[in-house]
Amino acid sequence: MSRILTGIQSSGEPHLGNVLGAMLPAIEMSKYNESFFFIADLHALTTIKDKELLKKNTLTTAAAWLACGLNTETNILYKQSDIPQVTELMWYLNCLTPYPMLANAHSFKDKSEQLSDINAGLFTYPVLMAADIILYDAEIVPVGKDQMQHLEITRDIANKFNYLFGDTFIIPEAKIDDVNMIIPGTDGRKMSKSYNNTINIFSDEKSLKKQIMGIVTDSKNLEDPKDPKTCNIFQLYKLIASESQTQDLITKYQKGGYGYGHAKNELFELIIHKYEAIRKQFKILVENPRDVEIELEKGAQKAQKVANSVLKKVKANLGLM
Ligand code: ADP
Ligand code: TRP
Repeated sequence: MSRILTGIQSSGEPHLGNVLGAMLPAIEMSKYNESFFFIADLHALTTIKDKELLKKNTLTTAAAWLACGLNTETNILYKQSDIPQVTELMWYLNCLTPYPMLANAHSFKDKSEQLSDINAGLFTYPVLMAADIILYDAEIVPVGKDQMQHLEITRDIANKFNYLFGDTFIIPEAKIDDVNMIIPGTDGRKMSKSYNNTINIFSDEKSLKKQIMGIVTDSKNLEDPKDPKTCNIFQLYKLIASESQTQDLITKYQKGGYGYGHAKNELFELIIHKYEAIRKQFKILVENPRDVEIELEKGAQKAQKVANSVLKKVKANLGLM
């Protein structure tokens, strides 16, 4: 049993990519490990400057974790900003982090090319992420491939601290998602809020249907046989469907007389059916935000205990107490 930890930014309503690529695999791991899962609302502040939106995203992200079946009796679900010790640790780590390491980070370079608001939070983002991880003695951090460099930065900073001030932190390992688990979006690129190509499985049926109807396809006629391998609808369908459902759809594609509109409807029905319980639970939670807050408060209390004991050791080793 290891201690696993991961965070998801509250930058929007969780989509199918988040659920299949991050939440469900992490929840599976949580059954055999001690898990810390948190909502990275401080990181979300680097891009979101709208109070109501941030609150709503935090609620929907927490509700998604809970609706997907995270057991909060045996695991810890909390909100990053509820443990302010993380920002204190970040300062100590800032003082050990070489400027060029941050200036050369891919994600900072990418974001500073794409965004108009290039703030210092985007620049020091990896240091806060390092603090998120090492404050809780995390051993394994399940993340997407895009986060690999942030994990290397975390390890570098933690190693440097241990070298300069004596053994203090556990050096975490990344657990990178299987390449096969990159969920494609409605346009065939990686599903991502920033590409506007998501399928929001928690939204109402009408909006969900609209997103599914927006899946990009080629312009083959209804009568034509179609190639499932190159079809975005099929790529999503097979991730969710059973073997036999997948096989049936392949047959329909290859036979012809089956249009993309039909396939989209079939995908819609499948999602509604497969995620019926999760969608229902999500709706109940979002309509009862106090219940979600209570879960987060309970999680914060547990996380706080670990954070305090690690931070005490850090301050003693730095010569601050
Ligand atoms: P987004 O790209 O929509 O902003 P995030 O970066 O907030 O998503 O991702 C949160 C978590 O969900 C991360 O662990 C990430 O690896 C995972 N994730 C996001 N999109 C996908 C996807 N298309 N396929 C697999 N995993 C994904
Ligand atoms: N940067 C991560 C992402 O965008 C979210 C995150 C913040 C995180 N802190 C973390 C992930 C700590 C793992 C561990 O996906």
